[in-house]
Amino acid sequence: IGTLVFENSISASKAVAKEIADLIKVKQAQKQPCVLGLATGSSPKGLYAELVRLHKEEGLSFKNVISFNLDEYYPMEPDSVNSYVRFMKEHLFNHVDILPENCHIPDGTLPKTAIRDYCDQYESKIEALGGIDLQILGIGGNGHIGFNESGSLQNSRTRLVALDHITRVAASQDFSGLENTPRTAITLGVKKIMEAKRVILLAWGEKKSNIIKASTEGPVTSSVPASYLQEHDNATIVLDKAASSKLT
Ligand code: F6R
Repeated sequence: IGTLVFENSISASKAVAKEIADLIKVKQAQKQPCVLGLATGSSPKGLYAELVRLHKEEGLSFKNVISFNLDEYYPMEPDSVNSYVRFMKEHLFNHVDILPENCHIPDGTLPKTAIRDYCDQYESKIEALGGIDLQILGIGGNGHIGFNESGSLQNSRTRLVALDHITRVAASQDFSGLENTPRTAITLGVKKIMEAKRVILLAWGEKKSNIIKASTEGPVTSSVPASYLQEHDNATIVLDKAASSKLT
């Protein structure tokens, strides 16, 4: 596992955007789709802003991009203020030329009985495209990736999960109170994340420094799902100075 430390999250986000843009262009030249795994939350906002800038100012096209988001709350209406559909439109999709039919986000409106098959199909679509070329991740304070909370196995599949209390507390500001915060979510499993050809995890700020240390220098353990990335052969943890401050 590689760690890359930048002066701040802005310069870090720009470097990651450059890698993504280069990959999109290589795939364009090969007339191939570029399959991106995308995250929501505060960590990738600067990355998406830079990708939008590259589209608007430097002509980067997303026409060959096929995206799969990591997760969505369940239940969740797509037009609700807290939906990840809304987040992705606001921060990326509405501002670039990605085709709407190429954007995949787990469906928070399904009846419960339909979720199992839906999750299997979500994975099948990724497999049919040859897997994820580049996966963007954030990290929860408890070490979750996607919504694979502590205890998630390395071969876990895409599924409905119960959110940890600490995850719900972190989200509760957005939902104006814990009682309004969803208890469950649909998440891409650890297996598909680990199968991505390239993984980039973003973490900013002092509040992520302990979990970054545990994930990169601690044991590989299901209690810290991000620690599985130590076993990925092309994963990079991209940090600002504050997030790297506990590393030895
Ligand atoms: C979001 C996701 C989560 C977040 C994590 C960190 O799609 O999969 O794992 O990446 O909770 O969130 P932020 O970036 O808001 O600190």
